[in-house]
Amino acid sequence: MEVIKTKNELRKLLERERQKGKSLGFVPTMGFLHKGHLSLMERARRENDVVAASIFVNPTQFGPGEDYGTYPRDLPRDIRLARSAGVDYLFVPEADEMYPDNSITFVDMEGLTDVLCGASRPGHFRGVMTVVTKLFNIVKPDRAYFGQKDAQQVLIIKKMVKDLDMDIDIVEMPIVREEDGLAMSSRNSYLTASERKSALVISRSLSDARDSIKEGENRAGFIKEAIRREISTEQNASIDYIEIVDAETLKPIERIKGGVLIAVAVRIGKTRLIDNIKLEV
Ligand code: PAF
Repeated sequence: MEVIKTKNELRKLLERERQKGKSLGFVPTMGFLHKGHLSLMERARRENDVVAASIFVNPTQFGPGEDYGTYPRDLPRDIRLARSAGVDYLFVPEADEMYPDNSITFVDMEGLTDVLCGASRPGHFRGVMTVVTKLFNIVKPDRAYFGQKDAQQVLIIKKMVKDLDMDIDIVEMPIVREEDGLAMSSRNSYLTASERKSALVISRSLSDARDSIKEGENRAGFIKEAIRREISTEQNASIDYIEIVDAETLKPIERIKGGVLIAVAVRIGKTRLIDNIKLEV
């Protein structure tokens, strides 16, 4: 695996691969890799001749007061893990390589970006779309891999790719969970042992919601209230949002029917965690 710091170097190496007729899979990440990221890399490995991944904590997707400065970083460990997952080229640019001083162009979207995480983190998806577009322009992948953990992000990227005629297949992979149900996230590293225990209420409340729906409950309001009640039993949990929406439009629904996304964001202590389930009812 080659570790590359500059856009020009990466472009040159990948151009050489393309000229040999190789297909290219790409996994963009912010590093501090966990099994969720590795599942994306391993799938990219299976489906492509060449695999590129990036590690870049993207400043433009963090709002003021968010955790850009403290976001967990461990490049030596990430390099080992990416290599073991079969990555060929690991792109690890510095912020001024990705955003030179005079960078004033951004990619934005209406509607899908204003709800759920977009409502609590204004500007977040503009930062995500901008950096993903830049990475796509540098890497020029055939396929790019994203996790369902950030369900809204994947939906937005799929729509962006369609709207802007980017010739890239977006592949979505299921959430990878710890044995006790906690969705894997680099931000789990912020949790103390007792917060880690409290955080289990998030996945538990979603899996209880899934059970109620399987048993026939179809009132979104009722399910939301049940999730709210369950999460509120944890003293250090504070709910940012609980939403039940159409999985394609992200519009709130009253009856649970068709493709449905149940998405939550909850602060455990100071750590904001997200989780979701997707259902076809
Ligand atoms: O999901 C992430 O880690 C980031 O939002 C992404 C897609 C790498 C863009 O910075």
